[in-house]
Amino acid sequence: MSQKEYLSTSILSADFTRLGDQVREVEKYGSDWIHIDVMDGSFVPNLSMGPHILAACKRVTNLFLDVHLMLVKPERYIQTFADAGADGITIHTEASPNLHRTLQSIRSLGCQAGVAINPGTPAEAVRPVLEAADMVLVMTVNPGYSGQSFFPETMQKVKKIRKWINKAGLETHIEVDGGIDVHTLPIALEAGANVFVAASAIYKHPEGIEYGVNALKEQLNKNEV
Ligand code: DX5
Ligand code: ZN
Repeated sequence: MSQKEYLSTSILSADFTRLGDQVREVEKYGSDWIHIDVMDGSFVPNLSMGPHILAACKRVTNLFLDVHLMLVKPERYIQTFADAGADGITIHTEASPNLHRTLQSIRSLGCQAGVAINPGTPAEAVRPVLEAADMVLVMTVNPGYSGQSFFPETMQKVKKIRKWINKAGLETHIEVDGGIDVHTLPIALEAGANVFVAASAIYKHPEGIEYGVNALKEQLNKNEV
């Protein structure tokens, strides 16, 4: 397995009074993707942002826009986020009664389709839809907030899903999201993840954003040599 690795910066911890600059900065320092966390106050306890923020990001960057929908019945909003500029849209198994159909709809709108599982959801929940997905997101915290601690137990699921993907000869990405920093990224990489989301390890890094991005990219580059 030699899949390319990507750093996806979550803007959840950005300074929203200067969002454009914050997105441009992570792009300049080497972030590969921008991760947009959409929360509805129902599937998760928090409220965050919607299609207007996504459209604003689209105006300032050409990076891949990785939209994570933490919404009940996300199928209601797929078209809206595709129109607002999403490159990838990820939906949760726990929130999507017609999972396979919604993944197909995402692809039919020209976006990459992602399927996510919470820490309490078994890996088996994504197995029947692996062929319909371009990415599996294994949540490494309970979704809702940035700044939480990584659950190492979730790595068993990453390993299992990577085996299924390889066995089926698929090129599906495995993304991890929550508590990713310089210590946990190598653990997830070793388990088989290839897309790494980080919010606080970048925007709240005590040495600044440039340092935060570089430190994470360095962990990824180590793997490439
Ligand atoms: C959590 C979100 C994450 C969050 C990650 O519900 O899905 O994307 O922004 O934040 P950190 O990297 O601070 O754990
Ligand atoms: Zn997320």
